[in-house]
Amino acid sequence: MAISGNDLSLRTISTLHTNHFLRTAMVLFVGLFMLFEEGDAADANKEESKVPPYTLPDPLVNNAGQSVNTPEQWTNGRRDELFQIFSDQVYGKSLAPPKATKSTVHQRDAIGGKAIRKEVRLEFEGETGQCLMDLTIYQPKNAAGPLPVFVGIHVFDKNHEPPLPGGRIVKEGKPIPEGIDPKLLPGAETIQRILERGYAVATIEPDGISADDANTFLKGALTIDWPADKKGRTPNDPGALSAWAWAISRAVDYFATDKDFDATKVIAIGHSRRGKAALWAGANDARLAAVISNESGCGGAALSKRIFGETVAHINDRFPHWFCENFRQYNNQEEKLPVDQHELIALIAPRPVYIGSAEQDLWADPKGEFLSALNADPVYRLLGTRGLGGVKEMPPLNTSVGETIGYHVRSGEHSLSDLDWMLYLDWADRVIPKSAK
Ligand code: GCU
Repeated sequence: MAISGNDLSLRTISTLHTNHFLRTAMVLFVGLFMLFEEGDAADANKEESKVPPYTLPDPLVNNAGQSVNTPEQWTNGRRDELFQIFSDQVYGKSLAPPKATKSTVHQRDAIGGKAIRKEVRLEFEGETGQCLMDLTIYQPKNAAGPLPVFVGIHVFDKNHEPPLPGGRIVKEGKPIPEGIDPKLLPGAETIQRILERGYAVATIEPDGISADDANTFLKGALTIDWPADKKGRTPNDPGALSAWAWAISRAVDYFATDKDFDATKVIAIGHSRRGKAALWAGANDARLAAVISNESGCGGAALSKRIFGETVAHINDRFPHWFCENFRQYNNQEEKLPVDQHELIALIAPRPVYIGSAEQDLWADPKGEFLSALNADPVYRLLGTRGLGGVKEMPPLNTSVGETIGYHVRSGEHSLSDLDWMLYLDWADRVIPKSAK
């Protein structure tokens, strides 16, 4: 019922005031909480003129100082060197695949009969423990053949059908109240567009694999090979990002067992921390056909040595469970890092990779993300692709550029918006061979 000014009784007015007061107090409280917990640090550099001089390591010069001139030298030597450095110094060792997996699938019609919603529970058995993950998939009904599929962590809110725009999403183990970030997730319409374009889309709930919590992240996939209460982790034991990357690989395992999907056409996608996990998954698992990083920032697509926005010290202080302990050596000492994030992008080559930034998301350093793409380009070219397609400068807003490496900077803030999705779909249509759709 609509209330007009004349209808307002004193009681209604005071309730409205109280509600307004409570709402304002809640928004302020949540805002302050997010500022402290999630938002930018007050000391973060947001000015290009304050970026210090830095030297990026050359992905095409090996540890012995020799240049890498052929695809073979990259594939049979240099790539492994770089992968080892990221494993030892940044994300931690990769997790072994499970010894056994049990899957239970429930499916039903969804989105007014246009789609099928599959709820898949995967239970993993390791040397010393078990863990589980839920994978929720929307796929177009009556699809002609095995489907290419986008998959990532918290890609949409699996608790609603159809998924709600800006629906509940959990950060730091706590639900974000509705309205805080209305564009964080694609809405029902975007999910329908994805399906109409001939793709399935799947979301991973990673809490059973590794919760996003410094006190409990070891429970789950990180216990499969060693007990969670093991005293004294080694400095290159993996953190939550490695566990989340492992979860993405387990989704690929599942797609390979379900004839509705083409497991050679799996595109990992992730926003922010989940974009970091998608990139590391792409480096670990050559079965991933392509990777999309949406505003993954520090420890994702952004260069660390620029010291712009979030730094290595910020991220290790606030999220000590994401990386391996060795990464802390580079707190305020980015110049000592033996790698930078353009080399993470290069580890995905020659498979397609897309980096999406947002203009106002300075915490994630849009320019540093673009420069990663640009500095990964020589590896993509060595491997025979067109890489960034000759682009050398950041493109105008909301314009997708590049080829095997795609890039855009969207106007607005930190989110995985519908526009981002549309640009990713257009690019996926170009880089994922049509024959499979
Ligand atoms: C924090 C964190 C970022 C991360 C982001 C997110 O802002 O500092 O590194 O990408 O949360 O996941 O939304």
